[in-house]
Amino acid sequence: MSGHGAPVAMKSHPVAGLKGIAEVPGDKSISHRALILGALSVGETKITGLLEGQDVLDTAQAMRDFGAEVIRHGPGAWSVHGVGVGGFAEPGRVIDCGNSGTGVRLIMGAMATTPITATFTGDASLNKRPMARVTDPLALFGARAVGRSGGRLPMTIVGAAEPVPVRYAVPVPSAQVKSAVLLAGLNAPGRTVVIEREATRDHTERMLAGFGAEITVEDTPQGRVITLTGQPELQPQAIAVPRDPSSAAFPVCAALIVPGSDVLVPGIGLNPTRAGLFTTLQEMGADLTFEALREEGGEPVADLRARFSPAMKGIEVPPERAASMIDEYPILSVVAANAEGRTVMRGVKELRVKESDRIAAMADGLRANGVTVEDGPDWWIVTGKGAGGVPGGAVCATHLDHRIAMSFLILGMAARAAVSVDDGGPIATSFPIFGPLMERLGARIEAA
Ligand code: S3P
Repeated sequence: MSGHGAPVAMKSHPVAGLKGIAEVPGDKSISHRALILGALSVGETKITGLLEGQDVLDTAQAMRDFGAEVIRHGPGAWSVHGVGVGGFAEPGRVIDCGNSGTGVRLIMGAMATTPITATFTGDASLNKRPMARVTDPLALFGARAVGRSGGRLPMTIVGAAEPVPVRYAVPVPSAQVKSAVLLAGLNAPGRTVVIEREATRDHTERMLAGFGAEITVEDTPQGRVITLTGQPELQPQAIAVPRDPSSAAFPVCAALIVPGSDVLVPGIGLNPTRAGLFTTLQEMGADLTFEALREEGGEPVADLRARFSPAMKGIEVPPERAASMIDEYPILSVVAANAEGRTVMRGVKELRVKESDRIAAMADGLRANGVTVEDGPDWWIVTGKGAGGVPGGAVCATHLDHRIAMSFLILGMAARAAVSVDDGGPIATSFPIFGPLMERLGARIEAA
């Protein structure tokens, strides 16, 4: 929903000893895909552990608007009665994807090869974000897009009546673009090929295979070559959504920087295309242990234990790791502020076109709290203050970005003075229970 309410100012106080079990919600990326592929299969897909954040609720509503029956049975327990590949009905109203780039881009792909027309909009953040990266490849299938200047929402897509399969090399590292092309390829006859130079999260590929599509992935010198055979009949699935590693990052990083902490996050997804943050933290000297490694619903899963790590050191994060931790740079910069020395993050231009310009948002807020940050178009460097060394005390602007809000609230837990955010409302898009969950561990967050 784009109707974001009045700003919710929040303040997070310094605390000691975060302790306990943090059961973070379901994975956002997997939740969107489960609803969309459920809607494109024939029969009933059952989902457990679905993230009930606003982003995913907006995708659920969109799937209803395209003709699927989407029912909530209980917390995280949903079913989708799909309409089959090519079976989407033309929506009778504007599709409002709220804050969600993943929602709008994947749904545009899923409808682009069906002979229907749909208009998409979002909130003030989403309506600033680039959509040409998706509509360019969708045009190759035969779809037409008309939006605002700069390829921005609101935007209308006229789906291709006679789609042709495409071969597309994704020019930016983006799982959303890759997934939009694959979902469009579902209703094109013949083989659609997507080539990505850098591996991005592969939930769409895994889930398409699980739903019975013919899909192959080959590692070549040019990158990952993904080949999908169009017009399959997708078989409904039972999907258990693992807990979101990108949400787990917040209690985990809080435990690393708040003295005396020991936190266990059970059952988090550890897909290698998502786990770059944890490797980076270990290189910095974080006390992290992975317990009970297992596979659930086609995704690797583990229990992750994080303990206070007073001697962490800044590192140079390998740029080729960026895609596997792209959503985690804001919270990494908070850990970096509490480490010794410089943490150098390069090859991260994509951070500038997320829910906010995440380099600018974090650099501004960290500086206001007494931390030195340098930044350029596709890099930034945080000079750490060491454990307990961040002065804090400032109010940070969150720019309708959930991860910026959560990052600064975590900063406040380990700073010398409380840290505030101007608006914590967007946290509900991905991690609606963030506040109560952190408070149960010992955090002190109040309405400011
Ligand atoms: C996502 C892909 C990433 C990520 C986003 C979720 C997805 O975006 O930042 O939070 O579920 O495919 P890009 O594809 O723009 O890198």
